[in-house]
Amino acid sequence: MKKEKIIVTSALPYANGPIHLGHLSGAYLPADIFVRYKRLTNTDIIYVCGSDEHGVPITITAEKEKVTPQDIIDRYHGSNKAAFEKFGMSFDIYSRTSIPTHHATAKEFFKSYYEQGILSEKKTMQFFDEKAGMFLPDRYVEGTCPKCGFEEARSDECEKCGDLYDPSELINPKSKISGATPELKETSHWYFPLGKYQERLKEFITSADKKFNWKSNVVQYCKGWFNDGLKDRAVTRDLDWGVKVPLESSESKVLYVWFEAVLGYISATKELFKQRGNEDEWKEYWQGENTRYIAFIGKDNIVFHTIIFPAMLMAWNDASNEKYIMPENVPANEFLNFEGKKFSKSRGWGIDVEQFLEIFPPDSLRYTLAANLPENKDTDFFWKEFQAKNNSELADILGNFINRTFIFASKHFDEKVPARGELEKIDEDMLVQLADAPRKIGKLIERYKIKDAVFEMMSLARDGNKYFNDSEPWVSVKTNKERTATTVNICLQTISTLAEVFAPVIPFSSEKIFKMLNIKIADWNDSGKREFEVGHQLNKSEILFSKIEDKTIDEEIVKWSNPTNHEVEVEEEKLPESTFEDFLKVELKVAEIISAENVKKSKKLLKLQVKIGKTERQVVAGIAQSYEPENLVGKKVVMVANLKTAKLFGIESQGMILAIEDENGKLNIVEVASSLKSGLKVS
Ligand code: MF3
Ligand code: ZN
Repeated sequence: MKKEKIIVTSALPYANGPIHLGHLSGAYLPADIFVRYKRLTNTDIIYVCGSDEHGVPITITAEKEKVTPQDIIDRYHGSNKAAFEKFGMSFDIYSRTSIPTHHATAKEFFKSYYEQGILSEKKTMQFFDEKAGMFLPDRYVEGTCPKCGFEEARSDECEKCGDLYDPSELINPKSKISGATPELKETSHWYFPLGKYQERLKEFITSADKKFNWKSNVVQYCKGWFNDGLKDRAVTRDLDWGVKVPLESSESKVLYVWFEAVLGYISATKELFKQRGNEDEWKEYWQGENTRYIAFIGKDNIVFHTIIFPAMLMAWNDASNEKYIMPENVPANEFLNFEGKKFSKSRGWGIDVEQFLEIFPPDSLRYTLAANLPENKDTDFFWKEFQAKNNSELADILGNFINRTFIFASKHFDEKVPARGELEKIDEDMLVQLADAPRKIGKLIERYKIKDAVFEMMSLARDGNKYFNDSEPWVSVKTNKERTATTVNICLQTISTLAEVFAPVIPFSSEKIFKMLNIKIADWNDSGKREFEVGHQLNKSEILFSKIEDKTIDEEIVKWSNPTNHEVEVEEEKLPESTFEDFLKVELKVAEIISAENVKKSKKLLKLQVKIGKTERQVVAGIAQSYEPENLVGKKVVMVANLKTAKLFGIESQGMILAIEDENGKLNIVEVASSLKSGLKVS
């Protein structure tokens, strides 16, 4: 049997914006820790990532900035790659999906399906923007989700509740390009029959879960998909930015971005071995007989990695002798929030990696994030917690232990490792711990319990400090120097063990510690038992972690916790100019709310009865998250009285109430003085 190989991937970030701390905690840092650990156990492992460079958001950004999509991806591919590097990500390659290898790979998969007759061409109704003269991709259309009432839902997918639906079901569609109401028009697309793979996928996930103990959040999520039943998925789009559909009849179409992005893992691996001068070696990782694949992602990417990508690989494998392996595990993380709220580029909430590392060292960030990974539930980045972790753990525990040991070694033993004398129980206990720690920590990392592993690492440093304290070398040095020598010797061995087990988390500091110890990093499993040669020369020590002052952290808090204090990217909706006549077409009237109740199964919607003069109307309003129904009764509001009747959640809505969304997302209905009679005209 060939030596085991492992391929690890992290979700390919869109080259459409900077990487922030939430990304790091989700899919990148845990993978990097896993890979760095595995490398130290002498495993044949490669770690592959890169930019996802297609998709509509990139074209939207380009349009907004009046540059080309290529300009956008070049900018963010470059800056994200650099930010990752600064953060210490140890990718074997950070590739990109715009390279020819990727386009060729994606086309090859599409062709295989096409030639097998798997794909079916279906005519569909797609939103067409008459004003802009183009078919609107999903993301260019916004409307109300037919399932949960979320008002910023895309044409066929709701970000909020995760529902997929037919574009014709979207309520109140609006074109993001022109603001116009788009019309459904016929186009044709190629569909991948996901439903046909449901049973095989179920079996694959069940058995992988059994064998490799998948995270329960991931398994639950998949179950939900299976329960709803997998549906055919369109894998082409009417767009010109992306991988062209390799069929003459479909030249103006591109492959759906997710359909090709997941293949980016494969094309990046091809690229890696091309660079290494061994073009075919990628197959050993993706198709070999003793190879494993682990996909690190954030929870928003689960379906693509547990269902769609595996189905695509199955479909390929059905027709080829070159068979791909399935992911052995998809350890998806939940989200990291920033000071209690979701990271949001558009609301200017959160901090980029690049900006962060201009002020603080990467290891401080790596440690803090790793100790607080959203493995089972969402967690938060808090500035004060960051400061506390850095100061009272990295500096006060780990740094302090290393520092005091080095001071003793240099002051009393001439910067050389002293010989141990006779061991006492306290020494033996410490040595047992050292021998045991790497195995224990390694096991946790293998099970993707990175947070627990990090806790064990710091516990070992705590125990080192305690051993030092209990041994009281400052006393023994006056009465029994042999005891002191034993203590210092074992403390140095503890430091080398710490440098090793901490290496995956704080690689920069670990490297410095090894330099100070004047030794090389060893095989993980030997590290705790490795003894120094007596008389081994140490190097000068340096301070590894400096404390972060209150003043520094307070400045950051002020700077980042109030989005109005720094640049906020307000997404201005540019609506086309309207004339006074246009304005007059909208009939605004004072209305009195006479009753209000929640709409069943909707978090957002309230059903209101209002009075406009003598007539009564029913309005469905998306204000449930901002108002309790009982507080609305009696309010005089402004309402669009001549709006076409619409149906939301099957309930008729005969008008619209004006409201203002504030910077916190709260809706504030426009109220008028209670003395004004309902039915009065607003102009
Ligand atoms: N670009 C996607 C995101 O940021 C992730 C793509 S992962 C891949 O959510 F597998 F498709 F590459
Ligand atoms: Zn929804």
